[in-house]
Formats: sequence, structure tokens, C-alpha cells
Amino acid sequence: MKALIASGGKGTRLRPLTHTQNKHLIPIANKPILHYAIEAAVDAGIKQIGIIHTADSCEVPDAIGNGKRWGVKITYIPQKTPAGLAHVVKIAEKFIGKDNFIFYLGDNMVVGGVKRFIDEFEKSDCNCWLTLSKVKDPERFGVPVIKNNKIVKVEEKPSKPKSQFAVAGIYIYDSHIFEAVKNIKPSERGELEISDAHTYLIEKGFKVGYSEITGWWKDTGKPADLLEANRLILDNIEPNFKGEVDKVSSVLGKVILDEGSKVINSVVRGPAIIGKNAIIENSYIGPFTSIGDRTTIRNAEVEYSIVLRDCKISNVKLRIEGSILGNDVEIVDAVGKPLVHRFMIGDQSRVEVA
Ligand code: DAU
Repeated sequence: MKALIASGGKGTRLRPLTHTQNKHLIPIANKPILHYAIEAAVDAGIKQIGIIHTADSCEVPDAIGNGKRWGVKITYIPQKTPAGLAHVVKIAEKFIGKDNFIFYLGDNMVVGGVKRFIDEFEKSDCNCWLTLSKVKDPERFGVPVIKNNKIVKVEEKPSKPKSQFAVAGIYIYDSHIFEAVKNIKPSERGELEISDAHTYLIEKGFKVGYSEITGWWKDTGKPADLLEANRLILDNIEPNFKGEVDKVSSVLGKVILDEGSKVINSVVRGPAIIGKNAIIENSYIGPFTSIGDRTTIRNAEVEYSIVLRDCKISNVKLRIEGSILGNDVEIVDAVGKPLVHRFMIGDQSRVEVA
């Protein structure tokens, strides 16, 4: 069994963060999203991982490396244009060869790993195994049409979904998938849709099975999804104090304080993670917050937020909540008269002021 992980695409829904950073490298609980996909494959005992990345950037290969740190071999497969998920599979044929493989969308996160799905696929005589998750908004996803417990068709982002399920971005295949991806045509939006490849397999009489994901699964395509994934990951962390906490501060609940971090005259209420050499002074950090490396927070309150590395937040009178701050962001008090808001904000940013 090999693994194929998709990390291409445009990441348009996560702008402005994705103007300067590939979306798969945005940290959730201070760890790049893509690490979660790689670790899921590693935990399932997979030794050979192919990662699809956009051909015009080496950001992902540079950040992830050859896989040695996980004890696996990572092969990079460049994709010239984001021509769809079935296209991703198509260009990976040489890497996959005749092996079975798990195809994992690099922006998906699932608790409990993927070994259980691989086991079910291997016990079955199926050619393709899908994972389904019940969602409130199936129209955002590939949606299975299910009759008598069998998937009879998969529709991509249907306006009138025929079930409450999303097909999650964790698929397991034998090599018949290559016949499917070579025979389907681009959809109206011009992509080779993975849902059409699944429908092709069903129509040609190949066996398509499925598991329902009963725990949590997230597609981190939108900003609110990042905050929710951050909440879910932080909820499962093991507390670990490598940083310093002074006598007047309190650190409550599940909190990771990374090396060199300092909590001074502050309250940190977990679950939360404070990155390496970050400083929290005269401040409050509330539940479900990730603070990146070297970020400093002084005289401010932050809750249910993701703050990336090297940010500076100081003397902010209202609590910052439900927010995502990119790298090197500053939120500081405006000094002098008149009393004003003063912004220096990049393209496609969003600020809500009270
Ligand atoms: O998350 C599950 C959903 O993922 C499925 O339910 C849908 O059937 C499937 O089409 C897909 O929908 P999305 O709209 O979420 O796909 P997105 O364009 O966001 O791409 C998913 C991942 O694959 C993301 O990590 C980017 C990467 N990608 C995408 C395309 C289109 C590539 O590497 N290359 C591509 O050409």
C-alpha cells in the first residue's frame, strides 16, 4: 500500500493567508496541516508517500523534505495546473504502479487515523473504498447517492444533495482507478472530478465500498474550518510545560508551553498551545488558541484564535476572538491624537472593528 497526498490547488478560499503561503503549510495547533496527512499514512504503516504539489513552487518539498524524519520515502510529483483531483491521480500512475493506494487530500484532517479504513478495504473485495461523513452542508462536497446500502453514484457539489453525507478526502483504490481517471471528461468547471471517476467505476461494475467516519473529520477549505480544526486538535493535546510561568500567572487546563516560551503576569486557559520563545505578558489567552513561535502578546486578550509566528499584539483593549493572524502581523495601539484606527492591510484581508 502506498499513499498519495494532494497539496496542489490554489487555496483561494483562504486568502490572504495563501497569498504568501501554501494552504497545506498553515499550522493547526502549531503544526502544518500537511503533517497530519503524512502522519496518518505513517501511522498506517505506509513507507512510500507521493505528494502532488504545484509545479511552479518548491514550497512544499522544501518544507516537508524527503520523509526521513518520519522514516518514510517521499516522492514529489509536480502538477502544472490544478486540473482536478482525478487529474492528480492520473499523473501519479508511474509512482503508484500496480500497488493499492490511499489517496488523501492534504487539506483534510481526521481523528483516529486511516488504518481502520485500509483494514476494511483489505478485508473486502472492493476496487475502491470511500469514507463518508454526515455533514450539515453536503452541497459543498462530493455526495453519494445511496440505495440499499450501496453507493450507486457520486455527485460533485450538487445543488440538491441526495444524501446527508460528504465523501471525505480519504479514498482507497486498486489500480482500476487509472482506467476511470483516463476515461472521464472535465466537468463544467473544467476539472477532472474525482466524483466522476467514482461514478465511472460503479457504472463499469467495479465494486465501491465505504465506511462512515463516526468521529470528527474536517476539510479545512475555509477560515472557519481552520478555527474549528484547531479547536478539535487542541481538545486532544497532552499538556506539556517546557516554558516558564511566573508565580503570579496561572496556566489552567490542557496547555502546551513550548521551549523558551514565557508566561508573565497572565492567565492561560487551555486547551491552548504557546509556541517556542513566545511571550505572553499581562494578558489572557483563552481556550482553543494557538500562538506561534516568537509571537509576543502584551496587555491583550486572545481566545479561540490562531496566531502564527512572529506576531506582535500589544495594548489591545477588546478581546481578539475567532481570528486568524498570519506570520509577522502586528496589532498595536495607535499612539497620539486623534484617537483613530490605523490600518496597513494586504489584499483580501478582513478586519471587524467594534
Ligand atoms: O474535502 C472533501 C472534498 O474534496 C470532496 O467531498 C469532493 O468530492 C472533492 O472534489 C474535494 O472538494 P474540494 O472543493 O474541497 O476540493 P479542493 O479543490 O479544495 O481540493 C482538495 C485538495 O486537493 C486540496 O488540498 C488541494 C488539492 N488539489 C486540488 C486540485 C483541484 C490538488 O492538489 N490539485 C488539484 O488539481
